[in-house]
Amino acid sequence: MKKLIVANWKMNPQSVAEAKRLFAAVSKTARGLKNVEAVICPPFPYLYTLHPTPYTLLGGQDVFWEQSGAYTGAVSPQMLKALGARYVIIGHSERRRHFGETDQIINKKVQAALAGGLKVILCVGETLQERKRGHTKQVLRRQLKKDLKNVWKLGTGNWKLRNRLAIAYEPVWAIGTGIPETPQNANAAAALIWKILGASPRVLYGGSVNAQNIGKYLAMPQISGALVGGASLSSQEFGRILMIAEHI
Ligand code: PGA
Repeated sequence: MKKLIVANWKMNPQSVAEAKRLFAAVSKTARGLKNVEAVICPPFPYLYTLHPTPYTLLGGQDVFWEQSGAYTGAVSPQMLKALGARYVIIGHSERRRHFGETDQIINKKVQAALAGGLKVILCVGETLQERKRGHTKQVLRRQLKKDLKNVWKLGTGNWKLRNRLAIAYEPVWAIGTGIPETPQNANAAAALIWKILGASPRVLYGGSVNAQNIGKYLAMPQISGALVGGASLSSQEFGRILMIAEHI
């Protein structure tokens, strides 16, 4: 399976022109990639102005679970698809924290996105406090169980979904802090996720990934890609990440 490298632009950049420039530059570098699937997740409004290529796919940073109706501010899976998105990030810790998303909400979104034909990147990971208390395992188990309710029966393989669901292990304390988890610990968490699920969807690592450290994560046997925030806002840095992933 190809490595999955996902750019999460978050609420950046600040103009359509910049978004187009960044996307064009990344698309140029990504052209011809054989071993990497590159996915760019821009803010919703920019999706309309960016045109995916076979080497540079588009994804949403979030999605709502209903198809239509009186849901102010919401975007449906069908709308994302119509704008060319193939992927969607669900359950990012910033959504959990700033938008009050619970595991129940995330579960509804995962189900709706899959039913709508999108591929899902589900984010899980412990906070610093949970980590200090030694609760990482319980947190991952609880999140996977609740977020994937009616989607994936824990402990049993689900080959049909293997290609449509990726899990991003993102320890909350490592996101945007410049303090990444060690490749060894990230690999151990990925192994645990495999064990909990009972099969092997792609597990990505996310949290202060950059061109300098990406190689170490991708060299780990259980890590199949990365979710990249800050470093995806520089076309040079992200381009280097893609190239390293291609040749690892
Ligand atoms: P970061 O963000 O690479 O800036 O740490 C990662 C993420 O939020 O997915």
